[in-house]
Amino acid sequence: MTIINHFHRILHGGDYNPDQWLHIPGIIDRDFELMEQSCCNTFSVAIFSWGQIEVEEGKFDFSWLDDIFARCAESGKKLFLATPSAAKPAWLGKKYPESCKVRSDGHRDFWGKRQNNCLTSPIFREKVRQINRKLAERYANHPALGGWHISNEYNGEPCCCDLCIRKFHEFLKEKYGTLENLNKQYWSAFWGHHLTDWDQIHPLDGSMNTARLDWRRFITANTVEFFRMEIDAVREFSDAPVTTNMMGYYDPLDYWKFVPYCDFIADDCYPSWYHGETEETAVYFAMLHDLHYTMLGKPFVMMESCPGIPNYRPYVKLRRPNEFQREMLLALGHGADGTMYFQWRKGFGNCEKIHGAVVGHDGGDQTLAFKRVADYGNKLESLSGIVDSAKAPEAAVIYDWESNWALDLTNGFGGTETKKWQETARLHYRALWEKNIDLAVIDSDQPFDSYKLIVAPMLFMLKKGVAERLKRFVENGGTLVMTYLSAYVDENNACFFGGNPGGPDLRRFFGIWNEDIDGLEPSSDQTLLWNGKKYRVSDYAEYLHAEGAEVTGVYGGEFYKGSPALTVMRQGKGKAVYLAARTGLDFLSDFYGKLLEETGIRPVLEGMPTGVKASRRTAANGDAYYFLLNMTEEPQTVVLPRELREIWGTDTLRKSVEIPSRGGTVLKG
Ligand code: GLA
Ligand code: ZN
Repeated sequence: MTIINHFHRILHGGDYNPDQWLHIPGIIDRDFELMEQSCCNTFSVAIFSWGQIEVEEGKFDFSWLDDIFARCAESGKKLFLATPSAAKPAWLGKKYPESCKVRSDGHRDFWGKRQNNCLTSPIFREKVRQINRKLAERYANHPALGGWHISNEYNGEPCCCDLCIRKFHEFLKEKYGTLENLNKQYWSAFWGHHLTDWDQIHPLDGSMNTARLDWRRFITANTVEFFRMEIDAVREFSDAPVTTNMMGYYDPLDYWKFVPYCDFIADDCYPSWYHGETEETAVYFAMLHDLHYTMLGKPFVMMESCPGIPNYRPYVKLRRPNEFQREMLLALGHGADGTMYFQWRKGFGNCEKIHGAVVGHDGGDQTLAFKRVADYGNKLESLSGIVDSAKAPEAAVIYDWESNWALDLTNGFGGTETKKWQETARLHYRALWEKNIDLAVIDSDQPFDSYKLIVAPMLFMLKKGVAERLKRFVENGGTLVMTYLSAYVDENNACFFGGNPGGPDLRRFFGIWNEDIDGLEPSSDQTLLWNGKKYRVSDYAEYLHAEGAEVTGVYGGEFYKGSPALTVMRQGKGKAVYLAARTGLDFLSDFYGKLLEETGIRPVLEGMPTGVKASRRTAANGDAYYFLLNMTEEPQTVVLPRELREIWGTDTLRKSVEIPSRGGTVLKG
């Protein structure tokens, strides 16, 4: 199914804010000419336009939006119509101050800025419901309506107003049933924090790990509830697909909880290609794209990206030639069916006036940004075969928000600077990505069955049922790699009785006992010895005992020199591997190289030079599309394993291709 019903095109366009330009004659006419010129077909509108639509309470002006809809219908373009809840009009905030967030210091925010609303406030909900219904009623059957862009980048910063705190207590009542149960799960005899009334539970008490974890869960749950309320309002009139734009790894919201209510996934991506960091940056976004494909197991949209550079980066740098296309091809190759921009036209005033956009302050078609967008847009037609094509990953990396929260909220193991759960997940992903294999990114609640290899880097929390599901995965022939700082706590952030990993049962399954963890100072020269080589270990080295597992790697130093650092336990048809120490990419690369050979997972295309990365999408008719990206600053010649058609630009059959410096190409065959 295409993202927009019956619209079989790669979506290309972006956030469009014509309502900022109504006072300048000719601008909108010019926009539509430039849109044609750059082959843009889809725009998101009205994202922050509540104040321009409901100009006074109950008084609506749809004239400018009607005009945009009509122009789009006429020219065959589609619109993602936003619900404008991210930024409220002044009249609303002034008249109903309870719609504004209360910060943790007790101060209520003023009406301005954006994403600073109390999502519990009944009047705010009512006002959002009304405006959403109005929009849906008016545009539901419009031929230009492509879908609903619900709100914009929901924000997980808590509102600490009385209503939100009371609702949090209700959430806990629902979850734990009785105070007795809650006290038990909260280990509340600690510091005498026994609770005798629900309203004694303070979400910000730094000593109460589980209350703080539940507070984060509540913020996600309350935001998802708000999201659903917004969807329900438009659904009264419209069955066009809905989404909300996510913000990558954004820690405060567990995005997996939004997934069941999205018809497609949308994400906002803002890389800066700084010198010497190309692969790191590409990995950062490739992993996100894989996460977004995995979420619904189908193509997603890169809803925002920047053809220039955002204004909040240390170096607001011009894109080097080819970098822009490579960034777009990275998204398409990893499962996007659309690459869109923030924003179409650069405004003249306020805090985003210097942020990169397709059309600059000169208003013309001669800028680098516009020419690049137009060149890319014109070439996109050659890729229309990828629309709705699939990926088939045999390996998955687990990235689990709740587990990360549990680790974050657990005092110990140093601070965020050493825990580095996100960087660690990415490093494991990178070691696999460098081998040009297709990858999925899942959380621990997702099905495991379709993979041959699952990597669980620092899966600190084992939610209910996860240990059993992982065991079944291994017994059925899967290879599971779990690392240090995994399986320390249950879903309540409480430690396991009977030793790690995960208590007696999982401990037996891995054939090890993880007795404790050695925190390594930066000066430590601890090493891991594996396969005849020595690798540096940093930050963490767990003190392990083998209890049935085969020891394949040992520590090279300290009093526990020679003790297990890497173990393998065969169970059923598969194996459970435990990596007890933090290593660098050097080890992970060698280690996964061997594991991929053992599991029979092949690269999507053999024989890529080191600086070239490949990904693949396969259409329903069996056509495979290969995206080859040059991560270096030199041109690269790639000798192909078989003859393939280069469909990006040349449309010729090739035995080898030249990829320009920082560029990319697409082959079919
Ligand atoms: C976010 C927002 C946009 C804009 C861009 C700027 O992604 O959704 O409205 O502010 O950031 O990078
Ligand atoms: Zn509130």
